[in-house]
Amino acid sequence: MSKSNESNYVRIFDTTLRDGEQSPGASMTLNEKLRVAEVLDELGVDVIEAGFPIASNGDFESVSAIARNTKNAIICGLARAHNNDIDRAAEALQSAKRKRIHTFISTSPLHMKYKLQMEPAAVYDAMVSSIKRARQYTDDVEWSPEDGSRTEHDFLCRCVEGAIAAGATTINVPDTVGYAVPEEFGALITMLMNRVPNIDKAIISVHCHNDLGLGVANSLAAVKAGARQVECTVNGLGERAGNAALEEIVMALRTRKDLLPFETGINTKTITKASRLVSAVSGFVVQPNKAIVGANAFAHESGIHQHGMLKHAETYEIMKPEDIGLTKSKLVMGKHSGRHAFRQKLSELGFELDNEALDGAFKRFKDLADKKKEVFDEDIVALVDDTVARENDRIRVEKLMIACGTEGPQTAELTLSVDGESRSTTATGDGPVDATFRAIRELFPHEARLQLYQVHAVTGGTDAQAEVTVRLEEQGRTVHGQGADTDTLVASARAYVNALNKLLVKREKSVSAMSA
Ligand code: KIV
Ligand code: ZN
Repeated sequence: MSKSNESNYVRIFDTTLRDGEQSPGASMTLNEKLRVAEVLDELGVDVIEAGFPIASNGDFESVSAIARNTKNAIICGLARAHNNDIDRAAEALQSAKRKRIHTFISTSPLHMKYKLQMEPAAVYDAMVSSIKRARQYTDDVEWSPEDGSRTEHDFLCRCVEGAIAAGATTINVPDTVGYAVPEEFGALITMLMNRVPNIDKAIISVHCHNDLGLGVANSLAAVKAGARQVECTVNGLGERAGNAALEEIVMALRTRKDLLPFETGINTKTITKASRLVSAVSGFVVQPNKAIVGANAFAHESGIHQHGMLKHAETYEIMKPEDIGLTKSKLVMGKHSGRHAFRQKLSELGFELDNEALDGAFKRFKDLADKKKEVFDEDIVALVDDTVARENDRIRVEKLMIACGTEGPQTAELTLSVDGESRSTTATGDGPVDATFRAIRELFPHEARLQLYQVHAVTGGTDAQAEVTVRLEEQGRTVHGQGADTDTLVASARAYVNALNKLLVKREKSVSAMSA
């Protein structure tokens, strides 16, 4: 019997590329999505929700490309309870080895009345016909009652029973607004298990948002109550406060087998690699104290802890860093390190770059090693994130010269490459950052407003790299850009330009959505 047929097997349904990508500012290009899908497959997730094909041509194309290229995981496309949505999802999934259509409709009184403006009976009928239509394309159909945790129990039971009778093979219960608390959410799953007569014909899944910081706790409570699929995202990426974090669910199940005797198919050693890739391509920096994948998650600084750790690691360590693919690197990198050692270091840090990206990152590493006495692992992570983030950029910073100091005006002399064409200008401003951003605006005019400008030092020391984050907003579209360099102003220009590139991707997406 394959592991996934065992009663204690919990399927991991990853929605980083759908719900995760829906978070403001997290848009990814097609190539970036393909790379994330490849790493998710290597991670061993059971299902990859690759996108919402009706939402835009870009989403349709990325779901199709992921469907074509993925070797193991089931590829899933999201669809509302409309014929067009379901047909479009089926079309995008055509070449998948294993495909799933996930269709949903709201069932809570609030959503039915104000969002759908539909009576419960009409919602029920739309649900049944959407599932039947999806079943014409695949035997693997998932149905979600959106805002399930705030749905009246009688109606929820009736819908779930009807969905299974209509052909749904997975029933996903979302806590759409992250409102539930663990005891209550676990009890909701128990209630469905007890009251829905045909519940044994489907897998129960949960999809918990993190508005109260309870996404993971609610998911685990649901597993204890009988759910055998959990929907989650890498780094907890997702709308508003995000979705339940994949790495936290998987490591909680693995670490607390005594209380949670369940299995997943996840190769936990790939967690660090997946986390770093998602952070780099989404532009969402992982907070240092984030569970499992934060930079400090395995750092022991206080004297008492270090003393205990030296005597016996389990005194303060409940998981091993190696379990999530975080190996202590023995390679010390400096300006004499060659390409081979650099590749080896990247692999120890959880990165795998293709030859072209490796060349770019290696050249930047050499430049950095010339400027900095010691190149730390954190420097290499920042440098690679920065290289990966701008692989497909249409606008690039070619040259920046700054004049600043007590005697103004501060001046930025900037050359950008825009679609391969060089453009140069000189701008003055209220400080060097302002002058730089004005120069960018002159060379690439746009209406976006700067909402956030943040700098942090990657390591200690005055020669540390600066890592800059910039948030831009244009007509309700928000994007984040990142840049790293030993020169704070170069890092700032790179971050701003990175955000602009993301905005271009978003603009293209909304144009194609309007014409879809
Ligand atoms: O949060 C939610 O309810 C969703 C559904 C589409 C499953 O993302
Ligand atoms: Zn969601």
